[in-house]
Amino acid sequence: MGARIIGTGSAVPPTCLTNADMEKRVATSNDWIVTRTGIEERRVMKQGEDILDLMHEASTQALQVAGLRARDLQAIIVATVSGDYFFPSTACLLQGRLGADTIPAFDVSAACAGFVYGMSVVHSYAKSGEYGRMLLVGADALSTMVNWQDRSTCVLFGDGAGAIVLDTQPGDRGLLSTVIESSGALWELLYVRAGHRQAVDQEGAQPKEWGIQMKGPELFKVAVRSLSEVAGKALERAGLATTDMHLMIPHQANLRIIQAVADRMGVSMDKVYCNVQRFGNTSAASIPVALDEAVRRGKIHDNDIIVLNACGGGLTWGASVVRW
Ligand code: ACO
Repeated sequence: MGARIIGTGSAVPPTCLTNADMEKRVATSNDWIVTRTGIEERRVMKQGEDILDLMHEASTQALQVAGLRARDLQAIIVATVSGDYFFPSTACLLQGRLGADTIPAFDVSAACAGFVYGMSVVHSYAKSGEYGRMLLVGADALSTMVNWQDRSTCVLFGDGAGAIVLDTQPGDRGLLSTVIESSGALWELLYVRAGHRQAVDQEGAQPKEWGIQMKGPELFKVAVRSLSEVAGKALERAGLATTDMHLMIPHQANLRIIQAVADRMGVSMDKVYCNVQRFGNTSAASIPVALDEAVRRGKIHDNDIIVLNACGGGLTWGASVVRW
């Protein structure tokens, strides 16, 4: 039996901020942003918009592709750090919106690595037989947490939501392995203090210390090392080698990080899916949004070996291997 991904979906807000728009907000340039990060534009929520709407849209798409209704699901897990409420969980709000009473619904908090942490949860449920049909969503709105006067962070992030529907089916296709790790000792490399919900169109209003705090160069090194090593560990746990991999969909933080990871793993960039250029770093949404795009663009075929790997605040990191 395998936990197969039978549906994917994604949604991003309509407002697009290009690098030219960023040049009007802070002392930066298109050339600096593209050279250091590969990012050309990002989607951001405006005041009055709700991340739950994006989650609902992505989930509805994924259910439609899977040919299932919300009431066919047995569990809902949402990876996010962007909920509007300390409680209830975002997953409960989504469950209510979808009309999926009374299945379990809860959030997973692992920042940019949230989606692979969620993969670990659904993989365990599937292996134990506890739940078979599950919805896993990765969604974040970090544009609402950046200090729009801090050029070193505000150019990096965007908002979005991605969803997958899994079903446990006979055969050897589906989730093969998941590895998750963390280092609380490194928490100060990337954090946001609680209670810093700000809308993008309020830019300019926050005190200097507000929002995402990041030690970029140190984080860059940990990200490259952890993303490559954990992908190798997950492949090994699945009894596979890097050469067996057809496509890697890494967390879309920065094109230079992705290229360095591919280089370290000895993988050519044509085996790596990238859309960071158009969305920036959407945190827990980045892998499911990229996965949905790759599926819709015909980049993934039956029985392909797909590696999903992410690293984020915590620090947290992890990887999943899927036979499609
Ligand atoms: N525009 C122009 N100049 C800038 C900008 C900007 N947007 N931001 C910083 N600079 C300046 C700095 O002030 C500094 O100037 P100085 O030399 O006069 O002091 C100079 O550029 C170099 O700054 P560095 O921080 O050393 O630049 P670096 O080459 O390391 O690139 C970056 C910065 C892109 C943030 C890089 O460190 C990085 O990508 N780190 C990883 C961060 C990341 O991806 N975080 C996301 C969350 S973690 C994750 O998802 C994996």
